[in-house]
Amino acid sequence: MSSRKTSLPNRDSEDKYSILLPTYNEKENLPLIVWLLVKYLDEGGFSYEIIVIDDGSPDGTLQVAEQLQKIFGEDKILLRPRAKKLGLGTAYIHGMRHATGNFIIIMDADLSHHPKFIPEFIQKQKEGDYDLVSGTRYHGNGGVYGWDLRRKLISRGANFLSQVLLRPGASDLTGSFRLYKRSVLECLVERCVSKGYVFQMEMIVRARQLNYSVGEVPISFVDRVYGESKLGGNEIVSFGKGLITLFAST
Ligand code: GDD
Ligand code: MN
Repeated sequence: MSSRKTSLPNRDSEDKYSILLPTYNEKENLPLIVWLLVKYLDEGGFSYEIIVIDDGSPDGTLQVAEQLQKIFGEDKILLRPRAKKLGLGTAYIHGMRHATGNFIIIMDADLSHHPKFIPEFIQKQKEGDYDLVSGTRYHGNGGVYGWDLRRKLISRGANFLSQVLLRPGASDLTGSFRLYKRSVLECLVERCVSKGYVFQMEMIVRARQLNYSVGEVPISFVDRVYGESKLGGNEIVSFGKGLITLFAST
Protein backbone atom coordinates (compact mmCIF):
# COMPACT_ATOMS: atom_id res chain seq x y z
CA MET A 1 0.00 0.00 0.00
CA SER A 2 2.65 2.49 1.04
CA SER A 3 4.66 1.78 -2.10
CA ARG A 4 1.71 2.93 -4.17
CA LYS A 5 1.44 6.15 -2.23
CA THR A 6 4.99 7.13 -3.02
CA SER A 7 4.72 6.03 -6.64
CA LEU A 8 1.97 8.50 -7.42
CA PRO A 9 3.42 10.96 -9.91
CA ASN A 10 3.85 14.61 -8.96
CA ARG A 11 0.52 15.37 -7.39
CA ASP A 12 -0.70 18.87 -7.97
CA SER A 13 -1.59 20.31 -4.61
CA GLU A 14 -4.33 22.40 -6.18
CA ASP A 15 -6.25 19.39 -7.44
CA LYS A 16 -9.48 18.70 -5.64
CA TYR A 17 -11.75 15.72 -6.16
CA SER A 18 -15.51 15.96 -5.71
CA ILE A 19 -17.06 12.54 -5.22
CA LEU A 20 -20.75 12.35 -6.13
CA LEU A 21 -22.75 9.72 -4.25
CA PRO A 22 -26.35 9.41 -5.44
CA THR A 23 -28.44 7.52 -2.92
CA TYR A 24 -31.87 5.99 -2.85
CA ASN A 25 -32.47 3.74 0.16
CA GLU A 26 -28.82 3.18 1.02
CA LYS A 27 -28.86 3.64 4.78
CA GLU A 28 -26.97 0.37 5.42
CA ASN A 29 -24.33 1.07 2.78
CA LEU A 30 -23.66 4.76 3.25
CA PRO A 31 -21.63 4.65 6.50
CA LEU A 32 -19.24 2.04 5.13
CA ILE A 33 -18.73 3.66 1.74
CA VAL A 34 -18.10 7.05 3.32
CA TRP A 35 -15.67 5.54 5.81
CA LEU A 36 -13.77 3.78 3.01
CA LEU A 37 -13.69 6.92 0.88
CA VAL A 38 -12.27 8.95 3.73
CA LYS A 39 -9.72 6.24 4.45
CA TYR A 40 -8.37 5.91 0.92
CA LEU A 41 -8.48 9.60 0.08
CA ASP A 42 -6.84 10.64 3.33
CA GLU A 43 -4.16 7.96 2.93
CA GLY A 44 -3.40 9.25 -0.54
CA GLY A 45 -3.19 12.80 0.75
CA PHE A 46 -5.82 14.04 -1.69
CA SER A 47 -7.98 17.08 -1.31
CA TYR A 48 -11.62 16.07 -1.68
CA GLU A 49 -15.29 16.46 -0.80
CA ILE A 50 -18.07 13.86 -0.78
CA ILE A 51 -21.43 15.07 -2.05
CA VAL A 52 -24.42 12.94 -1.10
CA ILE A 53 -27.44 13.39 -3.35
CA ASP A 54 -30.34 11.67 -1.65
CA ASP A 55 -33.69 11.59 -3.40
CA GLY A 56 -36.06 11.54 -0.44
CA SER A 57 -35.25 7.93 0.50
CA PRO A 58 -38.05 6.55 2.68
CA ASP A 59 -35.53 4.45 4.67
CA GLY A 60 -33.93 7.51 6.28
CA THR A 61 -30.67 7.61 4.29
CA LEU A 62 -30.55 11.38 4.68
CA GLN A 63 -30.60 11.15 8.47
CA VAL A 64 -27.70 8.72 8.31
CA ALA A 65 -25.87 11.14 6.02
CA GLU A 66 -26.44 13.94 8.53
CA GLN A 67 -24.80 11.81 11.24
CA LEU A 68 -21.84 11.14 8.96
CA GLN A 69 -21.52 14.84 8.29
CA LYS A 70 -21.24 15.42 12.04
CA ILE A 71 -18.53 12.77 12.31
CA PHE A 72 -16.40 13.70 9.30
CA GLY A 73 -17.12 17.42 9.04
CA GLU A 74 -19.10 19.75 6.80
CA ASP A 75 -16.11 20.42 4.59
CA LYS A 76 -15.81 16.69 3.78
CA ILE A 77 -19.46 15.62 3.58
CA LEU A 78 -21.88 17.84 1.68
CA LEU A 79 -25.58 17.08 1.58
CA ARG A 80 -27.49 18.11 -1.52
CA PRO A 81 -30.79 16.25 -1.20
CA ARG A 82 -33.80 16.43 -3.47
CA ALA A 83 -37.42 15.95 -2.41
CA LYS A 84 -38.18 12.85 -4.42
CA LYS A 85 -36.76 10.16 -6.68
CA LEU A 86 -35.91 12.02 -9.86
CA GLY A 87 -33.50 9.54 -11.44
CA LEU A 88 -29.79 8.80 -11.46
CA GLY A 89 -28.80 10.99 -14.42
CA THR A 90 -30.26 14.18 -13.01
CA ALA A 91 -28.89 13.32 -9.55
CA TYR A 92 -25.37 13.55 -11.01
CA ILE A 93 -26.13 16.87 -12.68
CA HIS A 94 -27.54 18.22 -9.46
CA GLY A 95 -24.45 17.10 -7.55
CA MET A 96 -22.10 18.49 -10.18
CA ARG A 97 -23.63 21.97 -9.85
CA HIS A 98 -22.61 22.00 -6.19
CA ALA A 99 -19.14 20.52 -6.65
CA THR A 100 -16.10 22.69 -5.97
CA GLY A 101 -13.39 20.29 -7.19
CA ASN A 102 -11.63 20.55 -10.55
CA PHE A 103 -12.16 16.79 -10.88
CA ILE A 104 -15.42 14.95 -10.36
CA ILE A 105 -15.73 11.27 -9.49
CA ILE A 106 -19.02 9.49 -10.04
CA MET A 107 -19.78 6.19 -8.33
CA ASP A 108 -22.54 4.06 -6.85
CA ALA A 109 -23.14 4.29 -3.12
CA ASP A 110 -24.01 0.62 -2.60
CA LEU A 111 -20.39 -0.64 -2.33
CA SER A 112 -20.44 -2.16 -5.81
CA HIS A 113 -17.73 0.37 -6.61
CA HIS A 114 -14.87 0.07 -4.14
CA PRO A 115 -13.16 3.31 -3.11
CA LYS A 116 -9.77 1.51 -3.19
CA PHE A 117 -9.75 2.03 -6.97
CA ILE A 118 -9.90 5.81 -6.74
CA PRO A 119 -6.14 6.33 -6.26
CA GLU A 120 -5.66 4.26 -9.46
CA PHE A 121 -8.15 6.46 -11.32
CA ILE A 122 -6.28 9.54 -10.19
CA GLN A 123 -2.91 8.09 -11.13
CA LYS A 124 -4.21 7.04 -14.54
CA GLN A 125 -5.65 10.49 -15.16
CA LYS A 126 -2.30 12.10 -14.43
CA GLU A 127 -0.38 9.61 -16.58
CA GLY A 128 -2.10 10.68 -19.77
CA ASP A 129 -3.75 13.92 -18.67
CA TYR A 130 -6.95 12.12 -19.63
CA ASP A 131 -10.21 14.06 -19.89
CA LEU A 132 -12.00 11.15 -18.35
CA VAL A 133 -11.04 7.86 -16.75
CA SER A 134 -13.58 5.07 -16.85
CA GLY A 135 -13.64 1.99 -14.66
CA THR A 136 -14.02 -1.10 -16.78
CA ARG A 137 -15.44 -4.50 -15.88
CA TYR A 138 -14.70 -5.85 -19.32
CA HIS A 139 -10.98 -5.42 -19.73
CA GLY A 140 -7.81 -6.54 -17.93
CA ASN A 141 -8.45 -7.71 -14.39
CA GLY A 142 -11.93 -6.21 -14.36
CA GLY A 143 -14.94 -8.34 -13.55
CA VAL A 144 -18.38 -8.70 -12.07
CA TYR A 145 -19.10 -10.66 -8.90
CA GLY A 146 -22.39 -11.71 -7.36
CA TRP A 147 -24.71 -11.11 -10.28
CA ASP A 148 -27.05 -13.87 -11.41
CA LEU A 149 -27.00 -15.02 -15.00
CA ARG A 150 -29.93 -12.78 -15.92
CA ARG A 151 -28.19 -9.65 -14.71
CA LYS A 152 -24.89 -10.64 -16.36
CA LEU A 153 -26.67 -11.23 -19.65
CA ILE A 154 -28.44 -7.88 -19.43
CA SER A 155 -25.18 -6.05 -18.82
CA ARG A 156 -23.20 -7.97 -21.45
CA GLY A 157 -26.08 -7.63 -23.89
CA ALA A 158 -26.41 -3.91 -23.30
CA ASN A 159 -22.67 -3.43 -23.76
CA PHE A 160 -22.53 -5.61 -26.83
CA LEU A 161 -25.49 -3.96 -28.55
CA SER A 162 -24.14 -0.54 -27.72
CA GLN A 163 -20.65 -1.44 -28.94
CA VAL A 164 -22.02 -2.62 -32.26
CA LEU A 165 -24.39 0.29 -32.74
CA LEU A 166 -22.25 3.11 -31.43
CA ARG A 167 -18.60 1.96 -31.74
CA PRO A 168 -17.40 4.22 -28.97
CA GLY A 169 -13.94 2.73 -28.41
CA ALA A 170 -14.30 2.09 -24.69
CA SER A 171 -14.79 -1.34 -23.15
CA ASP A 172 -17.41 -0.61 -20.48
CA LEU A 173 -20.16 1.69 -21.67
CA THR A 174 -22.79 1.14 -19.04
CA GLY A 175 -20.51 1.27 -16.04
CA SER A 176 -20.71 4.32 -13.86
CA PHE A 177 -17.46 4.46 -11.90
CA ARG A 178 -15.67 7.34 -13.57
CA LEU A 179 -13.46 10.35 -13.03
CA TYR A 180 -13.94 13.48 -15.14
CA LYS A 181 -12.23 16.78 -15.51
CA ARG A 182 -14.89 19.09 -14.24
CA SER A 183 -15.01 21.23 -17.38
CA VAL A 184 -15.33 18.11 -19.51
CA LEU A 185 -18.19 16.77 -17.43
CA GLU A 186 -20.01 20.08 -17.67
CA CYS A 187 -19.61 20.13 -21.40
CA LEU A 188 -20.82 16.53 -21.76
CA VAL A 189 -23.79 17.04 -19.50
CA GLU A 190 -24.93 19.98 -21.60
CA ARG A 191 -25.09 17.69 -24.60
CA CYS A 192 -26.67 14.68 -22.97
CA VAL A 193 -30.36 14.13 -23.40
CA SER A 194 -30.97 10.93 -21.42
CA LYS A 195 -32.07 10.98 -17.80
CA GLY A 196 -32.01 7.41 -16.53
CA TYR A 197 -29.52 4.56 -16.71
CA VAL A 198 -28.62 5.17 -20.36
CA PHE A 199 -27.01 8.41 -19.22
CA GLN A 200 -23.68 6.65 -18.48
CA MET A 201 -23.46 5.33 -21.97
CA GLU A 202 -24.45 8.55 -23.62
CA MET A 203 -21.73 10.32 -21.67
CA ILE A 204 -18.94 8.11 -22.97
CA VAL A 205 -20.29 8.02 -26.52
CA ARG A 206 -20.46 11.83 -26.61
CA ALA A 207 -16.99 12.00 -25.07
CA ARG A 208 -15.64 10.07 -28.04
CA GLN A 209 -17.53 12.26 -30.51
CA LEU A 210 -16.01 15.34 -28.98
CA ASN A 211 -12.55 13.75 -29.13
CA TYR A 212 -12.01 13.73 -25.42
CA SER A 213 -9.34 11.31 -24.27
CA VAL A 214 -10.49 8.32 -22.24
CA GLY A 215 -8.30 6.26 -19.91
CA GLU A 216 -9.47 2.95 -18.47
CA VAL A 217 -8.87 1.26 -15.13
CA PRO A 218 -9.98 -2.36 -14.62
CA ILE A 219 -12.35 -2.63 -11.66
CA SER A 220 -14.17 -5.44 -9.96
CA PHE A 221 -17.86 -4.74 -9.56
CA VAL A 222 -19.36 -6.55 -6.59
CA ASP A 223 -23.11 -6.84 -6.32
CA ARG A 224 -24.67 -5.07 -3.39
CA VAL A 225 -25.17 -6.95 -0.13
CA TYR A 226 -27.74 -4.58 1.42
CA GLY A 227 -30.85 -3.28 -0.28
CA GLU A 228 -31.88 -3.90 -3.83
CA SER A 229 -31.03 -2.66 -7.28
CA LYS A 230 -33.31 -0.02 -8.74
CA LEU A 231 -32.73 -1.45 -12.20
CA GLY A 232 -36.07 -3.07 -13.01
CA GLY A 233 -38.00 -3.90 -16.17
CA ASN A 234 -38.88 -0.23 -16.66
CA GLU A 235 -35.23 0.82 -16.68
CA ILE A 236 -34.37 -1.91 -19.18
CA VAL A 237 -37.11 -0.76 -21.54
CA SER A 238 -36.06 2.86 -21.21
CA PHE A 239 -32.42 1.84 -21.72
CA GLY A 240 -33.44 0.19 -24.99
CA LYS A 241 -35.30 3.29 -26.10
CA GLY A 242 -32.40 5.49 -25.09
CA LEU A 243 -29.97 3.34 -27.04
CA ILE A 244 -32.08 3.62 -30.16
CA THR A 245 -32.35 7.39 -29.74
CA LEU A 246 -28.58 7.62 -29.33
CA PHE A 247 -28.01 5.45 -32.36
CA ALA A 248 -30.32 7.64 -34.41
CA SER A 249 -28.75 10.88 -33.20
CA THR A 250 -25.02 10.10 -33.39
N1 GDD B 1 -30.38 10.14 -5.90
C1 GDD B 1 -30.74 9.04 -6.57
N2 GDD B 1 -31.89 9.05 -7.32
N3 GDD B 1 -29.94 7.95 -6.51
C2 GDD B 1 -30.34 6.85 -7.20
C3 GDD B 1 -31.51 6.79 -7.98
C4 GDD B 1 -32.33 7.97 -8.03
O1 GDD B 1 -33.37 8.04 -8.66
N4 GDD B 1 -31.59 5.54 -8.54
C5 GDD B 1 -30.51 4.87 -8.11
N5 GDD B 1 -29.75 5.63 -7.29
C6 GDD B 1 -28.47 5.32 -6.65
C7 GDD B 1 -28.43 4.07 -5.79
O2 GDD B 1 -28.77 4.33 -4.46
C8 GDD B 1 -26.96 3.64 -5.97
O3 GDD B 1 -26.10 4.36 -5.11
C9 GDD B 1 -26.64 4.01 -7.40
O4 GDD B 1 -27.56 5.07 -7.72
C10 GDD B 1 -26.79 2.85 -8.38
O5 GDD B 1 -28.10 2.31 -8.28
P1 GDD B 1 -28.35 0.72 -8.23
O6 GDD B 1 -29.81 0.51 -8.12
O7 GDD B 1 -27.48 0.08 -7.21
O8 GDD B 1 -27.86 0.35 -9.68
P2 GDD B 1 -27.43 -1.06 -10.23
O9 GDD B 1 -26.47 -1.74 -9.33
O10 GDD B 1 -28.66 -1.83 -10.61
O11 GDD B 1 -26.74 -0.61 -11.58
C11 GDD B 1 -25.36 -0.36 -11.68
O12 GDD B 1 -24.89 -0.96 -12.84
C12 GDD B 1 -25.48 -0.42 -14.03
C13 GDD B 1 -25.04 -1.19 -15.23
O13 GDD B 1 -23.73 -1.61 -15.14
C14 GDD B 1 -25.10 1.14 -11.72
O14 GDD B 1 -23.69 1.34 -11.68
C15 GDD B 1 -25.63 1.78 -12.96
O15 GDD B 1 -25.24 3.15 -12.99
C16 GDD B 1 -25.10 1.05 -14.16
O16 GDD B 1 -25.66 1.60 -15.34
MN1 MN C 1 -26.00 -1.38 -7.43
